Amino acid sequence: MTAQSVIDVSGLYSGYGEAMVVKGIDLTLHRGEAVALLGKNGMGKSTLLKTLMGYIRPAQGDIRLFGEPVGGVAPNRIARKDVAYIPQEKALFQDLTVKENLKLALMRDRDFAPGFAQIEGLFPFLAQRLEQKAGTLSGGEQKMLLVARALIRRPKLILIDEITEGMQPSVVERLCTILTHEREAHGTSMLIVEQHLDFALAVANRYAVLELGEIATSGETTQTGASANVARYLSL
Ligand SMILES: Nc1ncnc2c1ncn2[C@@H]1O[C@H](COP(=O)(O)OP(=O)(O)OP(=O)(O)O)[C@@H](O)[C@H]1O
Ligand SMILES: [Mg+2]
Repeated sequence: MTAQSVIDVSGLYSGYGEAMVVKGIDLTLHRGEAVALLGKNGMGKSTLLKTLMGYIRPAQGDIRLFGEPVGGVAPNRIARKDVAYIPQEKALFQDLTVKENLKLALMRDRDFAPGFAQIEGLFPFLAQRLEQKAGTLSGGEQKMLLVARALIRRPKLILIDEITEGMQPSVVERLCTILTHEREAHGTSMLIVEQHLDFALAVANRYAVLELGEIATSGETTQTGASANVARYLSL
């Protein structure tokens, strides 16, 4: 562990009941880094994120966030450490407005105006739709709202689980620009679970591939052959 490390996981096991899904993972993420977590379906990617967020108690091993041990700490307390989580399953309140959904990420109502002012430029469609019910946004817009809700708190760490699923290419590209900007401008750290290989490698500086709950390979995304190395593990 170093002073700059945001996530420090060592020897982590977690799963459901007796069934271990994450099996002995070591992972470090430094300030301003984005790590792409790749792997086929059912390899334990979402389980790892849920364990980091406190939704699943680790069976064994150590998790530190910003140097502090957080194994077994509740999700709301982890969120308060400036950690934002975008889960894989739909997480918007469909019957609440866009504005109400954004406010849920904030501690106080009065944080909305300054928070929204910071992200408005990144999500131009949102300003006209603040009073619209989230459930009536298009699928792509709902995904962008999830990202906006994560960013409005200006988190230090963002955990993102398969955000590009069902997004059209131009929106994926826009999202790549937004996350890259966030990281460069504010030193935000990101752990990004993805199936979209090109997006993952463009946004992240490092990658790791999960296979049956273990890290099968990892490296720097800019290394020659990174894409081919990952593709070997993702192909059927
Ligand atoms: N609540 C649960 N109870 C029991 N088993 C579960 C539960 N959630 C997930 N699993 C199992 O854990 C394994 C890993 O699931 P996980 O959702 O972590 O995979 P994943 O890598 O995120 O896959 P995908 O790419 O499909 O999202 C799977 O075999 C899954 O069936
Ligand atoms: Mg998953």
